Amino acid sequence: MNDDTPLDFTIVNKRLWNAKVDHHVKSPMYDVPGFLEGADSLNSIELDLLGDIQGKRIIHLQCHFGLDTLSLARRGAQQVTGVDFSEKAIAKAEELAKKTNLTASTKFICCNIFDLPDPEELFDIVFASYGTICWLPDINHWARILSNHLKPGGFSLLVEFHPFLDIFDEAYTRIENSYFNHGPIVCDCQGTYADRNAPIRNKSMEWCHPVSSVIQALIQNGLKIEVFKEFDYSPYDALLNSVKIADKCYQIKGLQGKIPIIYAIKASKPIS
Ligand SMILES: C[S@@+](CC[C@H](N)C(=O)[O-])C[C@H]1O[C@@H](n2cnc3c(N)ncnc32)[C@H](O)[C@@H]1O
Repeated sequence: MNDDTPLDFTIVNKRLWNAKVDHHVKSPMYDVPGFLEGADSLNSIELDLLGDIQGKRIIHLQCHFGLDTLSLARRGAQQVTGVDFSEKAIAKAEELAKKTNLTASTKFICCNIFDLPDPEELFDIVFASYGTICWLPDINHWARILSNHLKPGGFSLLVEFHPFLDIFDEAYTRIENSYFNHGPIVCDCQGTYADRNAPIRNKSMEWCHPVSSVIQALIQNGLKIEVFKEFDYSPYDALLNSVKIADKCYQIKGLQGKIPIIYAIKASKPIS
């Protein structure tokens, strides 16, 4: 490839995510042994907004290696479909579904979410969380996928790192970047958030989607915003320069309580 060839985000990011999987599976952050013994990987932010999922049909976009997908099934969802384009992540998710006897209530699809076929049956809930939309160039297309997969009366739930974080340098010590989307941000990444010393180095392509773009895309695709919340902490110790302020509660040193770190949007599909 010469230097002028545009990068294909699917190829670049799939390579990146395939390289992360083994390190994430072994990491204390994902705690696979705990999960196999019955621990729930979901956090109170999404659990409160999901409400009672007994008997629901859920599609979980960008499910990584499936811990949250399987946790939704353990909580009584009738059928949970996890989608991810990383072959290694989906293979691990299928292996974990077998180990936890959840194959009857879960299904995994390995594909780019932009290539998902039209669903044969619509879903009650579309769910995505923590590090998903930054990998997608087209937020309007993403919102169309959500809307196309929902039953009338169903809802989507996105829980995401706040794009306000993107204005800072990696250590959150100074303002370096725009809050607005000026096209792909291409980086060479070493290690990974769940294991900073993992011996991996890959290019990544990300986009900063301001909260207004996400809300506007959901509205334009026929969804009604029901809940919009911002949180001043992350349940994961995934950011540099973090301080633990409580169990599953991390903020950034020097900025504690001052900036949004996570946001959540619940949007419903009207019945008519
Ligand atoms: C940070 S993880 C998702 C967070 C998840 N809650 C977890 O378990 O950590 C991001 C996932 O998005 C997937 N991904 C990125 N771009 C994608 C795309 N265009 N289509 C499908 N999956 C994608 C990656 O393979 C990765 O597994």
